[in-house]
Order: sequence, then C-alpha cells, then structure tokens
Amino acid sequence: MPTTQADPLAINFCGLHFATPLVLLSGCVGFGEEYTRVAGFSNRDVGAVCLKGTTLAPRLGNKPHRVYETPQGMLNAIGLQNPGTDYVVQSILPQLDFSETRFIANVSGSTVEEYIEVTRRFDDSPIDAIEINISCPNVKEGGVAFGNDPDMSARVVAACRAVTKKPLITKLSPNQTDIAENARRCIEAGTDAFAVINTLMGMAIDAESRTPVIGNVQGGLSGPAIKPIALLKVHQVYQVSKAHKIPIIGQGGVASAEDALEFLIAGASAIGVGTTLFYDPLICPKINAGIRDYLHRHKLSSVTQLTGTLQLPDTGPLCGS
Ligand SMILES: Cc1cc2nc3c(=O)[nH]c(=O)nc-3n(C[C@H](O)[C@H](O)[C@H](O)COP(=O)(O)O)c2cc1C
Repeated sequence: MPTTQADPLAINFCGLHFATPLVLLSGCVGFGEEYTRVAGFSNRDVGAVCLKGTTLAPRLGNKPHRVYETPQGMLNAIGLQNPGTDYVVQSILPQLDFSETRFIANVSGSTVEEYIEVTRRFDDSPIDAIEINISCPNVKEGGVAFGNDPDMSARVVAACRAVTKKPLITKLSPNQTDIAENARRCIEAGTDAFAVINTLMGMAIDAESRTPVIGNVQGGLSGPAIKPIALLKVHQVYQVSKAHKIPIIGQGGVASAEDALEFLIAGASAIGVGTTLFYDPLICPKINAGIRDYLHRHKLSSVTQLTGTLQLPDTGPLCGS
C-alpha cells in the first residue's frame, strides 16, 4: 500500500506503510491479538505490532517471579516463553488481520544457526518484517550475550540477512560499552533498521529473606525509568545510522506524546510503546493525537520532518557532569 502523504502521521518504514509512527513492542502484546479484546483498542492506531520473541522450539520460560514493579518501571525475566516458530507461523499468523497494521516477528535464539532457521521460516510466511533480538537479558545463551559483542552481533545480522529479503530490524542492547560501534558493525552486516533500546539489566532483593525477588535473579528493566538512557542511545545510534538512511524505532519508557516527540527529535523514525500498555492499553490514540497537535502547532506537514532535529549547543563533545 503506498504511503498516504496526506496523513501527517503516516511513514514509510523500510518500504512498509505505517499508518502512524507507533509500534507496539515485543513481549508487551502477546502475538498481536492480546489487546484486540480490550474495548476501544485497535491495531489500526499503530503502524506495526511486534510479536513476542520466538525461538525454534517452544520454551516454557523462567521460573517465577517473572515480573516485579519498580519505581517508574518494572523488571521482567519471562525467559522467552513462546510456542515455537512452526506454531507461530502455521497457527497464529493466519489469525492476524494484516489489513489493520503491519506485523513484525521477533526472532531469538541460542546459536547463530537457530537465528538463521527461525528467520528462514518467517521469511517463508506473510510476516511484514523481521526483528532480530540480540539483546534479551533473560536467557542464558544467545540474546544479550550476542548483542553485547559487536563481532557476534554482526555475525548474527549477516547470517539472517543471507536468508531473508524482508526488512531486517536489529534490536540493540543498552547493556554494552559502545552502542554506536555495534550499530556500525550491524549496518555493515546488512541490517535495514534498528530498534533502540531493549531492557537494561537489573535486580530486586527481598531484604527480609535476603533473596532475589526475580526467579532468574536478574531481569530487564523497562518503563519510564529507562527513558533518559534510551534517548541518549537513540541519539548515539542516529549519529551512525543517519548517513546510511537506516531508520530507528526509538523505545524505552514512552508514556505520552511528549515522550514520543523526544525520541523522534533524538533521531527515531518510529516510536515503540511497551510497558505503558500494561496500565493504559488505550494510550496509542492519545499519543497520536498529541503528535498531530504538535505538528499543527509547529506548522509541519509530516512527522518525518521531526526525525533527528535535535539542536545541539556548540559546547564540544557529549559528556556527563
Ligand atoms: C514483559 C516484557 C517482555 C518482553 N519480551 C521481549 C521479547 O520477547 N523480545 C524483545 O525483543 N523484547 C522484549 N521486551 C522488551 C520490549 O520490547 C522493549 O524493548 C522494552 O521493554 C523497552 O520499552 P518499554 O519501556 O516501552 O517497555 C519485553 C519487555 C517486557 C516488559
């Protein structure tokens, strides 16, 4: 479907028409059907929906507790519970209404071979795009172990690139020293886009029992608490990706139109909404309305005009206090 230029919220993302720049994030919307049961919710309010992380074989996930609320956020260690790639492709995808939005698979694995096989099977399916999750902090092998090592990240991206022509989105880990260098390597390896950022590793402790709250000991921190970190990572990745016209789905704690606008200005072309859906499943129409209002007030005809418009002061390199 061609992008409707008349709608200021519509974007072209790696050749795909997104009705709005919002993307529902992996692990926060099941397999795309979960919120469709909520009165007033519609997948038409977003440009795309990322399905839960999928591995080759089914996984039961980690032992409880798997989630824990923290100030302005939450820890999760689900452990990639999913029914396996064949079930997702054969039984879930046929139930999804592709006329409502774009659907993105989220590919995970413990070995490069597993990433290749899962990607190959999604390539042979109606899925619109493939996101490779090399940044999951909640599994013992693969995941963030790959995503924090630029060599391994590039290997996984190149291997998946070789088996699909669908848009390939690489989801980067914030738990690494130099995210921009990793992004550069992933661009060389053939990624079409980035998702920035996945969760940050954290933990919670029960002082009375002196035990970790999360069954997996550590979990991934998400929600508004991580937004300042996510904004900086998007800004850093954008410095590398803009020359290659590689778009970014900025994410991490988005809970309002103002948050979404900040991510766009930092360099994102689309904005992910995840944890916020757990307490406000109807947040997306409100964010869309807020972005529309901002565009109108600033006399902009398209949301694409905002990407990377951050005005930096002339004060030399970025540093902390
Ligand atoms: C309960 C839960 C499960 C998640 N599962 C996945 C997953 O399977 N694959 C993935 O790439 N990211 C997963 N994530 C990370 C989110 O997609 C998102 O990148 C992160 O939570 C930051 O966005 P947010 O602060 O808006 O939630 C999960 C997050 C949560 C909270």
